[in-house]
Amino acid sequence: MSFFSGSSTPAAPASAGAEVPRHVAIVMDGNGRWARKRFMPRVFGHKAGMETVMNVIADCQRRGISFLTLYAFSSENWKRPEEEVSGLMNLVLVGVSKYLMRLAEQGVRIKVMGERSAVSPKVREAWNEAERVTANNTGLTLTVAFNYGGRWDVVQACRQAMADGLTADQLTEEALSARMALSHAPDPDLFIRTGGEIRISNFLLWQIAYAEFHFTDCLWPDFDVAEMDKALAAFARRDRRFGGVKTEASGPAV
Ligand code: IPE
Ligand code: IPE
Ligand code: MG
Repeated sequence: MSFFSGSSTPAAPASAGAEVPRHVAIVMDGNGRWARKRFMPRVFGHKAGMETVMNVIADCQRRGISFLTLYAFSSENWKRPEEEVSGLMNLVLVGVSKYLMRLAEQGVRIKVMGERSAVSPKVREAWNEAERVTANNTGLTLTVAFNYGGRWDVVQACRQAMADGLTADQLTEEALSARMALSHAPDPDLFIRTGGEIRISNFLLWQIAYAEFHFTDCLWPDFDVAEMDKALAAFARRDRRFGGVKTEASGPAV
């Protein structure tokens, strides 16, 4: 099933009634392999992946998910060929100019997390504009992880704490959480990785302590409503205990 199959009226979400995660984080992997299957350059896959991003945003809004966090470019992705890196940087500029107004009208609030000083001024300005234009929106919060690494995030939070003059005793989990790049959102409930690899690849190391994991072989450009249905159905079946135990009377873990 594709996002656009069937009638123009969206069908009721398959997850309706079941518990919908408040925060979904996705490692959007498989663009390169998707392109290779079509004998096309890797950047072709990234372009297709950007269309999927737009569809997934709309789908999450329709399902009532409040926070969506997408891994778009990792701290380690600079190791890729220059042509691919510049193609990805260019896609940011194209994507912001093509889709920012639509997202703003949809009520999406955009946040970007990652080491910004390393990206070009043009790309930095595009991200700044996306944040500025959507800052007062109250719909879905979309966080784009760009030049982001989970280890970078822990280190930058510690550095901030030191710059704020915190003593060792004051460096609590709460104090560090408040300085992490995703401090504007609750911890992810559901972590999805497409593309068949079963690894984190330096995504949200601190914040996924109690996330539920869903891995799928589906390549990111092919990720659609049916795939999201599967991920949310898997999530709904999980018994989240957060280290506690379930009491017969109360149901939820205590
Ligand atoms: C993920 O797709 C997108 C980025 C890392 C930017 P890949 O480009 O890693 O695709 P595969 O894993 O090579 O298929
Ligand atoms: C993770 O995918 C990064 C993004 C999706 C942005 P990679 O393709 O870079 O991860 P590895 O290299 O397979 O671990
Ligand atoms: Mg990959």
